[in-house]
Amino acid sequence: MSALLFAPYTMRDLRLVNRIVVSPMAQYSATPEGHATPWHLMHVGNLCVSGAGLVIMEATAVEPRGRVSPRCLGLWTDAQAEALRPVLAFCRAHGTAALGIQLAHAGRKGSVARPWEGQETVAPADGGWQPVSSCDLAYPGRPAPHPLSVEELAGMKEAFVAAARRADALGFDLIELHAAHGYLLNSFLSPLANRRNDAYGGDLPGRMRYPLEVFAAIRAVWPPGKPLGVRISATDWVEGGWTGDDSLAFARALKALGCDYVTASSGGISPSQTISPGPGYQVPYARRIQQEAGMPAMAVGLLHDPDLAEQVLQDGAAELIALGRGMMWEPRWPWHAAETLGASAPFPPQYARSHPSMRFGDPAKPFLERPAG
Ligand SMILES: Cc1cc2nc3c(=O)[nH]c(=O)nc-3n(C[C@H](O)[C@H](O)[C@H](O)COP(=O)(O)O)c2cc1C
Repeated sequence: MSALLFAPYTMRDLRLVNRIVVSPMAQYSATPEGHATPWHLMHVGNLCVSGAGLVIMEATAVEPRGRVSPRCLGLWTDAQAEALRPVLAFCRAHGTAALGIQLAHAGRKGSVARPWEGQETVAPADGGWQPVSSCDLAYPGRPAPHPLSVEELAGMKEAFVAAARRADALGFDLIELHAAHGYLLNSFLSPLANRRNDAYGGDLPGRMRYPLEVFAAIRAVWPPGKPLGVRISATDWVEGGWTGDDSLAFARALKALGCDYVTASSGGISPSQTISPGPGYQVPYARRIQQEAGMPAMAVGLLHDPDLAEQVLQDGAAELIALGRGMMWEPRWPWHAAETLGASAPFPPQYARSHPSMRFGDPAKPFLERPAG
């Protein structure tokens, strides 16, 4: 049987050459103004020639308080869009991957130092800000956030819309809306973070309301031919928190609004989460979303064993496989996975001589190929 991992996949007008997705990974390497730097050119450019079908750029903030750290990427100004232009130009000229961007707001987990600088709260006097959230409940150990009023929520929705318009003008193929990992939209969904008593809190429909409104507002301006997906934390891993059943309800509501896929990530809302990551540990959540809600799922989380990634697809648990750390560690993972699974993956002609058939004179193994066009 031919490898599903290397079979094309189509969402709306976007055809991916294979099912391998580079998961969004914050690089904390923007300028203090939120502009992309040469690091992004190297990082994203490298991943675009990796043979993956889709690269989703890191969580990109829709307003200044939406950054995790003061060095996160932003898309709330035209100057930020300009700074991203060379990255897209390189990817279009040399890459074979489609290019997505994750639009995000860090919510009550914003204003911390970069991971390698300790991730402590950055005070407003030092370039930080007061975080915002669904209510004034703090993430343990962090400052109390400003609870967003209904008027402020409307403005925030416009910030997502403005960023989506900029992403379109830049030429991104896909948007992933970040509703996971304890950030702003997740802080509406989870009962552990949302204590509002208006229409945006309370029961499940109330807690889903704002993320769904943001999704619908983006969908309304994002071109009909371009896919829009959502990343969720499919479980909080905390008793009394968001569950797999809640994720099904959310996926069904997103489906009704025209969502193209849901990524089943997990956790991040509370430090008391009990979680034991292992190979494919989040796949059961993707499987339920895909099979019970009928929503195409993107599986993620320790899926860097090619046979396991292939099995997830063969089992019908997901349509797409996202890899994060595995791609940083081994950016040629798609080529090597293709060799393992007897398939082929795109590569840049500049690197043709690295192919084993060229190095070792075994032309019987042409597992690398550049797609036509
Ligand atoms: C350095 C780093 C940065 C990350 N940044 C993001 C991000 O910006 N948005 C997001 O949704 N997930 C982010 N993640 C999570 C990954 O996208 C992925 O879901 C997670 O690492 C699990 O997949 P893996 O086992 O293949 O790494 C990040 C992970 C790492 C290691």
